[in-house]
Amino acid sequence: MRCIAEPAAAPTPAHLPTEPAPVTLRGFRTGDVPTISAIVAEALHEHYDPSLYASLGADWPAGFLVAADEHDRPVGFLLGVAQVAGESRVLMFAVDRSVRTQGVGTRLMDAFLERSRARGFHRATLEVRVSNVGAIRFYTRYRFSVIDLLRNYYSDGENGYHMAREL
Ligand SMILES: CC(C)(COP(=O)(O)OP(=O)(O)OC[C@H]1O[C@@H](n2cnc3c(N)ncnc32)[C@H](O)[C@@H]1OP(=O)(O)O)[C@@H](O)C(=O)NCCC(=O)NCCS
Repeated sequence: MRCIAEPAAAPTPAHLPTEPAPVTLRGFRTGDVPTISAIVAEALHEHYDPSLYASLGADWPAGFLVAADEHDRPVGFLLGVAQVAGESRVLMFAVDRSVRTQGVGTRLMDAFLERSRARGFHRATLEVRVSNVGAIRFYTRYRFSVIDLLRNYYSDGENGYHMAREL
């Protein structure tokens, strides 16, 4: 399981302030799978078995965060896991294209880091394609830094960065 995505699109005037998207953060529900699968297909170009989401979230349900719109429909999610002692890891993280750069990813990451600290973890990690400059910028703003180059990490041969930050 790898946190992958296409390279970010060329920057739009995204840094002109826009209204934050009105979302509510909540836990994952099995009924979210079709919508989350669609976000994953578009943003991460992956197609997972529907049962995968619930099984990955089972060990640490608080690490699986969903941002829902006013109709309770997911518009973004962060699936974090706890596989290494003392560490949380971002396994999947994506926001629907229609609401990107409106603060949804920030809400998800803030909550994820807070829950990681609450769980007593001392470090958070993730992997990202070296070409995904938008996500790398986002993570750098969160004081994640590159700790390793993962050669041929992705199925198409692209290298990845292993990034981490103290909590
Ligand atoms: C990476 C990703 C999850 C970020 O989600 P997002 O909802 O766009 O994140 P935010 O809106 O909180 O932040 C994005 C940028 O918009 C800016 N922003 C946030 N709210 C804003 C607002 N109201 N007005 C203007 N800019 C704003 C942020 O400062 C941030 O800037 P930065 O990229 O320089 O750090 C999203 O781009 C995505 O789904 N990408 C495709 C999948 C992907 O690459 N996932 C990561 C795989 S490792």
